[in-house]
Amino acid sequence: MDELRRAAGRAADLMADHFGHIREEPVWRPVPAEDRLWLTAQRLPETGRALDELVEDVRSRVMRHPMGNGHPRFFGWVNSPPSPAGVLVEPLAAALNPSCAGGEHAGPLLERTVVRWLADLVGYPHPPGGGLLTSGASMATIVCLAAARQRAALQDGWDAREEGLSGRPPLVLYVSAEGHSCLRKAAELLGLGSRQVRTVPVDAAYRMDVGTLRSMIAEDVAAGLRPFCVAASAGTVNTGAVDPLDEIADVAAENRLWFHIDGAYGAFGVLAAGAAPCYAGMDRADSLALDPHKWLGVPVGCGCALLRDPASARAAFSLVPAYLHDENADELGWFSEYGPEQTRPFRALKAWATMSHLGRQGVGRLVNHTAGLARTLAAMVDDSGDFELLAPVTTSITAFRYRPAPEITGDRLDALNRAVPAAVQRRGGAFITGTRLGTDDALRACFLHPATTEDDLAVLLAEIRAAAREIGW
Ligand SMILES: Cc1ncc(COP(=O)(O)O)c(C=O)c1O
Repeated sequence: MDELRRAAGRAADLMADHFGHIREEPVWRPVPAEDRLWLTAQRLPETGRALDELVEDVRSRVMRHPMGNGHPRFFGWVNSPPSPAGVLVEPLAAALNPSCAGGEHAGPLLERTVVRWLADLVGYPHPPGGGLLTSGASMATIVCLAAARQRAALQDGWDAREEGLSGRPPLVLYVSAEGHSCLRKAAELLGLGSRQVRTVPVDAAYRMDVGTLRSMIAEDVAAGLRPFCVAASAGTVNTGAVDPLDEIADVAAENRLWFHIDGAYGAFGVLAAGAAPCYAGMDRADSLALDPHKWLGVPVGCGCALLRDPASARAAFSLVPAYLHDENADELGWFSEYGPEQTRPFRALKAWATMSHLGRQGVGRLVNHTAGLARTLAAMVDDSGDFELLAPVTTSITAFRYRPAPEITGDRLDALNRAVPAAVQRRGGAFITGTRLGTDDALRACFLHPATTEDDLAVLLAEIRAAAREIGW
């Protein structure tokens, strides 16, 4: 154990150095050929190596090539820096190495608290057992849509688990044009077929058009199909838009639809000052997917599926063979009865540590700070003369584009904004990603880092200008 103690001390130093010096490093840099070769093509050693040597390899070959999301000027996709408290306890979770499928030990018991805290933070009802941690929101979505699918089948007098879907009226899922791809992936995986996924158009603010949702449902009913679920977004990945949740809840209730909300990124936005009205109706959902590994900064991966009626997920997944029967289980049973995973990692520890360290007030400060940065960047864009804002700011994402001269329009403007993200990334001064909004190529900056400052926003705009010049614009 002395070897482990010594190497762990060195690893702790590396961790602290990494956090301490991250601002001085490039946000991201390409991996040089030699390190790429080491990372991708090394041979399995014939004989084992000392722990000290492994830590040295991690220092020199691994930690030099981060994705970049720990840096305060990383604004790509939806990837937060890790919370120090979460990082601190990760090795301890690994030291215990439980399977949190269920049973009487710290992991599953602490998961009950973490799920309740998450529901409480975002104001979602929490019946006992009303949720579980997952690898991320994609898996949470699979859990929720599987529960929705089975509920619809049972309502109609059949069992989707036993019979499969063939020979039954196709189940139809409604998703907005801005809904995340994980919704369609889940629908495909669950055998619904992407042909039965309706894409509901969005309004000028990129929110689901509820009038069109209503008419699409009516058309599908008239055609003999079975609308079964509408999936709204509380924070889209492109612009951070929050759908009109209350109105969608009404439509769901009127049409016997399961009301799912993808709050993977944006559910925590409800904590921003003045944001609550925008989230009205979130507490009416049958299920809410959210990602502690996004805005909260719990180290990856930690998603969560919250369910209004936990029995619905259990009806979709519970399968307890004799070798898993637990005489001591309480009435909620095991977590593995509520989702597809059997052996489950100890995700609760890093989520508990992160939320305990921040406290409710700390989460509120983080959300308000980052939401404020998005609004500030929007104002800077509006004042700039060479950038254009492309969507209202609702959460902590600013969607915009670069237009250095008014005569740059159409395909040329799209080509410029398509090329900019990679050029900015290569320079290493900031990290931004692009997307397509309607018919336009766009840039989007997502703010999740507690240490990002307004000066960093000025650097971002300067980096975009410099990168565009570098690639000939
Ligand atoms: C809005 C939204 N929904 C769902 C997901 C998928 O979540 P995960 O990557 O945790 O599976 C993401 C990921 O970025 C997202 O931003």
